Amino acid sequence: MDKATELDKLKKEMEGNKTLPLMGANLVFGEGNSDCDILFIGEAPGMNEDRERRPFVGRAGQLLRKNIRELGWKENDVYITNIVKRHPPENRDPSQEEIEAYKPYLARQIDIIAPKMIVPLGRFSMNYFLPLAKITRDQGKLFQADTYFILPMLHPAAALRGTTAMNMFEATFKKLPYALKKAIGVPEEVEESQETQKPKKLEDVQAKLFK
Ligand code: URA
Repeated sequence: MDKATELDKLKKEMEGNKTLPLMGANLVFGEGNSDCDILFIGEAPGMNEDRERRPFVGRAGQLLRKNIRELGWKENDVYITNIVKRHPPENRDPSQEEIEAYKPYLARQIDIIAPKMIVPLGRFSMNYFLPLAKITRDQGKLFQADTYFILPMLHPAAALRGTTAMNMFEATFKKLPYALKKAIGVPEEVEESQETQKPKKLEDVQAKLFK
């Protein structure tokens, strides 16, 4: 079965699971190239995403998508999703219970896509991979897990709130091509850049990968 078919099967399974929280909202499963190297993961869909059933289509999403295009990539060269796949009412943060309930589906989505690089957007998504990491301290650092690298970033909604955050978000975004080269194993002299930090082992931040 190809990856797109497997993802479709997983989506149907999610639609059939009536025990998940936030059932009053639409399922926003994710979109993009199921064969991609890079997977972006946000926290939960907002109102616009709920209406369109697509991830990152509001203001924050436009900022994310613009930065992807500015790297010379197409939006559907990558895959975009969230940990929690339904909109929490009043745009509140997802609760721990909601994150726990949706986590297994994200794990399976990651297994199917098998990306080389995961980009968690914001602290909720980052803490799924790196439970002890702090977003302002650790965004922009490259971490190495078993089968992929992780480059946490500020959430684009945070970047929209101020110049310092925006500069940080854009600077980390510009590291992505170098980080990806590292992740796909391009030889050192080609990919080494002052912009890219040495990858850290997950253990350096005493973090474990959730499976
Ligand atoms: N914020 C998120 O975390 N995800 C979306 O899909 C939209 C906004």
